[in-house]
Amino acid sequence: MIDDANHYISEKKNSINQTFKPSAHFSAPIGWINDPNGFVYFRGEYHLFYQYNPYDSAWGSLHWGHAKSKDLVNWEHLPVALAPDKDYDKDGCFSGSAIVKDDTLWLMYTGHIVNEDGSVRQVQNMAYSTDGVHFEKVEQNPVATEELLPEEVIANDFRDPKVFEKNGRFYSVVATKHKDGVGCIVLLGSDDLLEWQFESIFLKGEAHQGHVWECPDYFEVDGQEYLIVSPMQYQKSGDDFVNINSNIFVSGHVDWEKKIFVADSFKEIDHGHDFYAAQSTQGPAGERVMIAWMHTWGRNIVPHELDHGWAGNMTLPRILHSNGNQLSQEVPEAVLASLPKAQVGERVDGPAYLDVKIDQDIAFRFGDESDYIEFGYQDGLVYIDRSHQKIEISGEEKWPTSRRSVAIDAQHLQVIFDRNTLEIFVNDGQESLTSAIYLQGEKLLQQVK
Ligand code: FRU
Repeated sequence: MIDDANHYISEKKNSINQTFKPSAHFSAPIGWINDPNGFVYFRGEYHLFYQYNPYDSAWGSLHWGHAKSKDLVNWEHLPVALAPDKDYDKDGCFSGSAIVKDDTLWLMYTGHIVNEDGSVRQVQNMAYSTDGVHFEKVEQNPVATEELLPEEVIANDFRDPKVFEKNGRFYSVVATKHKDGVGCIVLLGSDDLLEWQFESIFLKGEAHQGHVWECPDYFEVDGQEYLIVSPMQYQKSGDDFVNINSNIFVSGHVDWEKKIFVADSFKEIDHGHDFYAAQSTQGPAGERVMIAWMHTWGRNIVPHELDHGWAGNMTLPRILHSNGNQLSQEVPEAVLASLPKAQVGERVDGPAYLDVKIDQDIAFRFGDESDYIEFGYQDGLVYIDRSHQKIEISGEEKWPTSRRSVAIDAQHLQVIFDRNTLEIFVNDGQESLTSAIYLQGEKLLQQVK
C-alpha cells in the first residue's frame, strides 16, 4: 500500500493547481493533509509526519506523510511512512508522535478501525525505523487497547498518543472522552515502548471545555510545564474560542505521585481562523518548537471545492518561550530571514514579511477593490477580517466567524504572507493570529488607516 501511495504521488503531483499553494509553509506534494504527527529531531534533522490522504483533496484513507528539514525553512519530502495496511489500522493510521530511543526512530500512532456494525475502535500501535525513512510496524501491535482503560472513559474515542520520557520511563498522553461528556487525557506508561500500562486519568475537562480533547502534548519550557490539547467544541467566550474546535495551552504541573496534571490556566493558543492540532518537539539547543495544522474542522475547504488537487498546510514553526505561566511564540530567525520584505502600496504575490511598529490604530487592506481581507489594530484589538473575501468560508459555528481578534496592548506586529496564508505575531509572539485566505484578484497591500 505504501508503494501504491508513493507511485501515485510521483505520477500525479504535477497535475495539481498551485494557485493558492503556499511555498514558505509546509504542504504536501498532492492530496489532503491535516494534523502534524511525529514531529521530532533525529540525527541532526527535524522530521515532520502528517495525516495524509494522497488520493484526494478531502479527508479519507489516512496515511502518514513524511518530510525532513535541517533548518525549519527548507523541507524535503520523503516517502510515505505509514499506510493503513493492517487489520489494526485498516481504516486509517490516525495521529500520533515520535521518540528517539537508542538511535532508532519510533512512532506511536492510533489505528482506526470501523467494525462491520459501523461502530468505531481505536487502538495504539508502534512502528520503528533505523534509517529514518522506512518504518516497520511491530509484531506486538496493537500495544494499547480499550482493555487497559477504566470504565469511566468512552473507549471508542482513544487516540493521538504523544510519547515522552521521564525519569527513565516512557509515558504517553492520549485523548479520550469521559463518560460525563467532557474531554479527558489518559496517561499510559511503558519501560520499553512495547508493553504499555494504564497509569492514570491525567486531566479531565469541565463542561464548557468541550468533549474529546484531541491531540494532547505534554512538555516543559524554561522549567514550566504545559499541556496542549485540541478540544472539540470548547464554548465560545467573547472573542475567544470562536472556532468550533479550539487549540489551547494548559499551564500547570504534574503531581508524579498521583500522576495527574494539576492545571492552573487554560488559554487559546492562536486567535485566527485556522489553527489546530499543534504538536511540539525539542530542538538541538533544548528549544521547544511547535507546528500546527493551518485549518480547522467543520468549515468548507476551498482548494478542495475548486478541485485544485490538494488541501491543507502547516503553520510556520514557532519557538515557544515561557514567561511566568504564559507561552509566547517566536518565528524562528532563519524563517524570517528567508522571507522577502513586503512593501506597503505594492503587490505581494508570494511569501513576504511586513514589520509594523504601532503607536496608534492602524489598518491594512490586502487584495483588490472587491475581494480583500483587512487586518490591523483597532480599539485595543488586533484583528483579521475575512468578510470582504469573495470566496466565502463558513462552518458549523452558529455565530459570525469572519472577523477574529485578540485584546492586547500591541506595540509591534510581524505579518507574514504566503499565498493562502496570513500569520500575525503580536509583540514578538505574545499573541498570534493565523488565517487561511483565498483572494483571486490583484494582491495589493495598502494601508487604509
Ligand atoms: C484531529 C484528528 C485526530 C485524529 C485525526 C484523524 O484533527 O481528528 O483526533 O487522530 O485528526 O485524521
